[in-house]
Amino acid sequence: MLEDTSFAIHPGKKANIAETPYHDIGNVKNVTETRRGYQVECEHGYVTVQLYRDDIIRITMNSVEIPSCDSTPAVYAQKQEVNSSINEEEEHITITSSALKAVVHKSPFRLSILDADGQEVVSEQDRGMGYHETGEVICYKQMNQQDRFYGFGEKSGFLDKHGERYTMWNTDVYAPHNQETDPLYQSIPYFMTLRNGRAHGIFFDNSYKSTFDMKSEPDYYSFKAEGGELDYYVFVGPTPKKVLEQYTHITGRMTIPPKWAIGYHQSRYSYESEKEVREIAKTFLDKDIPLDVIYLDIHYMDEYRVFTFNKDQFPNPKQMISDLKDIGIRVVPIVDPGVKKDPEYKTYQEGIREDHFCKYIEGDLYTGEVWPGESAFPDFTDEPTRKWWANKHKYYADLGIEGIWNDMNEPAVFNETKTMDTTVMHKNDGKPATHRALHNLYGLQMGKATFEGMKQHLNGKRSFLLTRAGFAGVQRYASVWTGDNRSFWEHLQMSLPMCMNLGISGVPFTGPDVGGFAHDTNGELLTRWTQVGAFTPYFRNHSAIGTLYQEPWQFGEEYEAIIKKYIQLRYQWLPQHYMLFQNAHETGLPVMRPLFLEYPEDKKTYNLNDQFMIGDNVVIAPIMQPDVTDRAVYLPKGNWIDYFTGEQYEGSSSHLIHAELDTLPIFVKQGTFITHSPSRQSTMVEQEELYVHVYAGQEGTYESYVYEDDGETYQYEQSNSLKLPIQVECHPTRVDVSIGEKEGTFKPAYASLSFRFHGLKNQQEVYMNGERKELQHSEVELELF
Ligand code: GLC
Repeated sequence: MLEDTSFAIHPGKKANIAETPYHDIGNVKNVTETRRGYQVECEHGYVTVQLYRDDIIRITMNSVEIPSCDSTPAVYAQKQEVNSSINEEEEHITITSSALKAVVHKSPFRLSILDADGQEVVSEQDRGMGYHETGEVICYKQMNQQDRFYGFGEKSGFLDKHGERYTMWNTDVYAPHNQETDPLYQSIPYFMTLRNGRAHGIFFDNSYKSTFDMKSEPDYYSFKAEGGELDYYVFVGPTPKKVLEQYTHITGRMTIPPKWAIGYHQSRYSYESEKEVREIAKTFLDKDIPLDVIYLDIHYMDEYRVFTFNKDQFPNPKQMISDLKDIGIRVVPIVDPGVKKDPEYKTYQEGIREDHFCKYIEGDLYTGEVWPGESAFPDFTDEPTRKWWANKHKYYADLGIEGIWNDMNEPAVFNETKTMDTTVMHKNDGKPATHRALHNLYGLQMGKATFEGMKQHLNGKRSFLLTRAGFAGVQRYASVWTGDNRSFWEHLQMSLPMCMNLGISGVPFTGPDVGGFAHDTNGELLTRWTQVGAFTPYFRNHSAIGTLYQEPWQFGEEYEAIIKKYIQLRYQWLPQHYMLFQNAHETGLPVMRPLFLEYPEDKKTYNLNDQFMIGDNVVIAPIMQPDVTDRAVYLPKGNWIDYFTGEQYEGSSSHLIHAELDTLPIFVKQGTFITHSPSRQSTMVEQEELYVHVYAGQEGTYESYVYEDDGETYQYEQSNSLKLPIQVECHPTRVDVSIGEKEGTFKPAYASLSFRFHGLKNQQEVYMNGERKELQHSEVELELF
């Protein structure tokens, strides 16, 4: 308690932290080439160097024995066969592939890695790898003052993390969420460094509590973990996009979400009865506000028992779910890991009988307090338990449910430590380890079980999973929302760099609770937040018990009309968003991007926190303060068109932009195109048209594509999809649009594309596939099939 008062800084409390001594790995004694990689024996330990791919190198250190090189489940890619050579000299050893060179200095072991152009990406001098008596492992790298750091998953604070220190330990933090709140729910021990416009990255594959320190020393940064092997991958870039490709090669990419999952979602902790849920759905329909999902928070259950419904409040869930689906709305229930300790409850009985719950080494069951009271926790680290849990999702699938919301999976426990006892012993697929070692993997493994379970029961349909906790690789199974924020303008502001850094950490499908979860929102905040939400990858309005209700109509007609306009705008932009999600699936690039990802040469973008990009050609610059209707917007190289007014702005400079409450400043890059469809009540309404909006410029070429598939099955994996490349080439006298070769067999509901041209100059003529076209009201139709 007293820690919340000035007592926290009492002079008598000055820390007396005697750092345990750091032991350097020491001099190299010998190097051998083995099937696994290069094995380096040092005075005080062993290092394995593996060329994982020609542009990815993996270093693993163990101070006691030859490294096991056991990866966490974050790692998805196998090591490739890489052509490499080794050259040993008196003072150093050089390992070379076609894309990088690793130089190991022998006395003592110090590593430098150079990229294909011979540029040094990481280096060590005074210090390198080492360990502490406590079992902690640590790695230092030289840092330049101009280095910028991005990634680290879900962190508060600004976009650039130079000068920060972060801990990875999945934590349920209800409050506060501010600049110094760390850690939060997710642990993604990965970052990217931008140095003089070039990028490289490091993924520290260790699930113990870890710390990344870009703050304590001017010339070095470090990463360390409480235990395990020092196991890390270096991605040599050289562009930020290439680093993301390399990182997501290792940890995997998202599957294409079902289209309904990228529509608008409405949630509340909780809609407490079937009647209330039906009323909410009806109000959306009556008011003609698009909606794809309604969430059921913990009150749908029988005293918070997972895999049950409360029969009084939800007498016929199957009928309710089916009726809602008839009007285009899906239902997503929350599923927490805690299983109520109740000998008369089936899931608890099964878990005990089949030995699925976490236990201490001596065999005693671990229980902790969560919503249902005293609860047991499935040991998701073990395959039979994941299978059991996966199978249990037949219950939801049989009710017509296609999406699940995993919460409290840090795991959160209502006690002083906020989580499970770290001495609990997990089975861990035959390699038992304590919760201290595996804590950060609990959410990821629950996500894997849930995702695979739903997939198994949905007969070829895609499922949707939302998770609060996770680890590197979480993108393979789930989308991530940023937990319990508040209805504060500051939290709207913070959500931008947080989601952008999640995207840089390989997680494209993210978003905060729109309107704010705790605290009371108001009309203006909800309106401005919904404008942003229309462009964040995940778009859900959610609020907490005891706060003002915040559905779109709760604050009067003026706000409702604007909120509706932006939810509809989301649906108009869906073809563009969907293409970007498919692109994320294919390349690992995020949907919502910090500007530096597209403009790594432009220093002005390096810490731009209050703007973001959608794909490579749209800048969103929201208003995120009350009573403000003007803001500075930085536009990078090129010319930019105001989406609503058509006004042109010059890039590489800042502009003062006026935006009344009904306006979200959106800028499209001249010379590019975006795709739209008419708004619709839900994605279940057929999309019958596709508009390609071309923003004509005076010079330059732009390429992108239209992407479609059935939006709900995995048939896209069998090429039942449509990828239509489109190139726009602008000249002072003509704009050439060329449609490339169609890929895939999918036929959308529309048979033609409507091209609409913006900003054509008088003398500019339009050519489609080399043929001159007369435009009708700036439009021209192109047959597709
Ligand atoms: C947690 C979640 C929140 C949810 C609540 C009740 O606080 O973060 O989103 O509404 O639990 O389930």
